[in-house]
Amino acid sequence: MHLTEEQLNKFDQEGYLFFPNLFSKEEVGYLNSAVPDLYKIRAEYNFREKGTDVVRTNFAAHMYSEPFAKLARHPRMIQPVEDLLKEKLYMHQFKINGKMAFEGDVWQWHQDYGTWFNDDLMPTSRAMNVAIFLNDVTEFNGPLIFIPGSHKKGVIDAGHDTSTTSYPLWTINNEIITKLVDRAGGLNGGIVSPKGPAGSMILFHSCLVHASSNNLSPFNRISVYLSLCAVSNHIRRYKRKEYIAHRDFTPIECLPDDCLINDYNVDLPWKDGIPQSAYETSMKEISNK
Ligand code: SIN
Ligand code: MN
Repeated sequence: MHLTEEQLNKFDQEGYLFFPNLFSKEEVGYLNSAVPDLYKIRAEYNFREKGTDVVRTNFAAHMYSEPFAKLARHPRMIQPVEDLLKEKLYMHQFKINGKMAFEGDVWQWHQDYGTWFNDDLMPTSRAMNVAIFLNDVTEFNGPLIFIPGSHKKGVIDAGHDTSTTSYPLWTINNEIITKLVDRAGGLNGGIVSPKGPAGSMILFHSCLVHASSNNLSPFNRISVYLSLCAVSNHIRRYKRKEYIAHRDFTPIECLPDDCLINDYNVDLPWKDGIPQSAYETSMKEISNK
């Protein structure tokens, strides 16, 4: 799936694109059916919400779960980002965020590239997020919220928040957020929130400032995030464990468009468990391979 000139221009101005209903009920059903077993696994790559047993984020399912290994090679998710970055991509991060009914906690205001730069030494922001909704996303279950155009600000000052939620994040303070929202239109469009049925997709720039509030509703809001990085822009430090920030910079090759409905072989390198090396970390800067 390729982007039109109009979509490329819209992305340039706003920093995100929304594709309602891009995946069918059957495709979403196939992905959804794999989630409960993944969330049941007792492993550190399933971050639980603070003080509860509910999963906040599952990492790296594309390495050990067939449905998600296929999604990680899906042309509807990969090709639009190739169009934007004009280069082959590798998977920097893969997560299935729970945001479960009643328990799903906030994601504080942040830019993803802030974390990728500060922690992983990713050289530039030539990386994007693509999210697919596995449940309907409404105003009630903690939708993502964006400040349109904020990606044009580059890397914004952030502080390392290790206490608000169970997952450490480089977050942006309220004063800066207020200015950015004002600049984007204040009450008139300064914050937007793409919502839609399960199967909808959002593509957003790694510098776009975003957040989401907690889920007080009885409806889960499970979404999958592919963080795709231009191969030449690969990370230069392994400070975070490999299941969070991947170290295999092999370009992604897409499967056919029907890969979530028909059988295709996919490699599952971590199907028998995550290797010990993926838990090892280092502060050393690595050279450009
Ligand atoms: C994220 O920003 O990485 C996740 C936000 C969300 O799932 O609401
Ligand atoms: Mn984020």
